[in-house]
Amino acid sequence: MKVDVVIGLQWGDEGKGKIVDVLTPKYKVVARFQGGPNAGHTLEFEGKKFVLHTVPSGIFRENSINIIGNGVVVDPVILMEEIRKINAAGLPTEGKILLSKKAHLILPTHRILDAAQEAAKGGAKIGSTLKGIGPAYTDKVSRSGLRAGDVLHPNFAQKYDALKQKHVALLRQLAYPFSVEEQEREWMQSVEQLRAEFTIIDSEYEVNELLKQGSILAEGAQGSMLDVDFGSYPFVTSSSTVCAGACTGLGVAPSKIGEVIGIFKAYCTRVGSGPFPTELHDEVGEQMRRQGNEFGSTTGRARRCGWLDLVALRYSIMVSGATQLFMMKSDVMDNFDAIKVCVAYKINGAATDRYPYEVDAPVEPVYQEFRGWKKPTSGCRTENDLPQELLGYVKFIEQQTGVPVKFISVGPDRSETVLR
Ligand code: GDP
Ligand code: IMO
Ligand code: MG
Repeated sequence: MKVDVVIGLQWGDEGKGKIVDVLTPKYKVVARFQGGPNAGHTLEFEGKKFVLHTVPSGIFRENSINIIGNGVVVDPVILMEEIRKINAAGLPTEGKILLSKKAHLILPTHRILDAAQEAAKGGAKIGSTLKGIGPAYTDKVSRSGLRAGDVLHPNFAQKYDALKQKHVALLRQLAYPFSVEEQEREWMQSVEQLRAEFTIIDSEYEVNELLKQGSILAEGAQGSMLDVDFGSYPFVTSSSTVCAGACTGLGVAPSKIGEVIGIFKAYCTRVGSGPFPTELHDEVGEQMRRQGNEFGSTTGRARRCGWLDLVALRYSIMVSGATQLFMMKSDVMDNFDAIKVCVAYKINGAATDRYPYEVDAPVEPVYQEFRGWKKPTSGCRTENDLPQELLGYVKFIEQQTGVPVKFISVGPDRSETVLR
């Protein structure tokens, strides 16, 4: 049996949550492998809407097992709040969520450090979600982090205090005013709940055992262009968002990876700072934001919008080895007269099909233009229902990427999908 991996191929918010929810009936197990509450994965079904930050998007399917893997960073307050909201909607979670002992914890002081470090960067800030992601992964890599498994040990309080004191010293160095007491109280209560109510496991053993019984769906967060190695560094997140992250974030061998499902929007969005070659600053971009409701699921910030960028998409497909593509939000383009796609870049007059190393490279997108379909598509359920112009757009993407587009999403609801 294999681990099939869902990853975002752009700058996040491609619609991964919806897809994991749609695919889950085929899998018993869904596992998040990286990121943390910087993620906001939206699911809509039966008139209900949920935004998940840490809980895997398989949670709403009966009898599913949802694993928060070792590669994830967990804020206990956000996790417990998320579970409360799901339960309040009358949906059970008991026994359905397992947490890796090796997942690192986000402390209140990580969140404060995130804010302090962003403030210190001034105009060069990353535009972080301020959830403490960068500082938590920094502590993981510098070997001073606190892990979920530590809450089960008698010396947890000392370990917590040692790490907190390290953070306090850093905050003093940055001359950042803060008070942590209230957040700390809330955090400790959530840790207590975690200890009492949660199954904290050796997830790498569990995942490999479960894999003998059936395939597993691995759920990525963020997108390939925010990857710490391959994204537009330093305007990236702090984890491996590409397919390889599923191996280290769950403890599965590369030979166990099956399908690599790459999710992309029919256009592009980005939240936070950093290069975005096809960004639109005009009425067309405004129309995308309005019709796509492009406001962050986690922070509410307006997302930057622009045309589909095939240079970036081909790069992401290459790095992760996507075996199939899922195109999201094509309905957002239903009213456009013309649709552009970036097929190459020009940098200082020279054409290239490579994504540049320099974040300030003067990239001019080279566009190919398509006629818009100008028809509503959200009621389409089969390929035959879709307008010819939309199918032409999809075939062009397939030809440009060499990867089949297996799925077209025409609305936020679970049911608004066309399988090819
Ligand atoms: P994720 O982080 O990749 O899971 O994506 P987000 O949930 O942050 O953002 C995707 C947004 O688009 C959410 O509000 C979804 O409900 C919505 N969405 C997903 N698929 C579609 C679609 O095909 N059409 C439209 N109009 N909205 C969609
Ligand atoms: P999902 O899983 C979109 C962006 C932030 C910022 C940068 C670093 O919902 O697709 P961080 O808080 O990680 O230090 O922020 O990455 N970012 C996201 N953008 N979707 C996400 O997650 C994101 N997670 C982080 O806006 O630019
Ligand atoms: Mg999101």
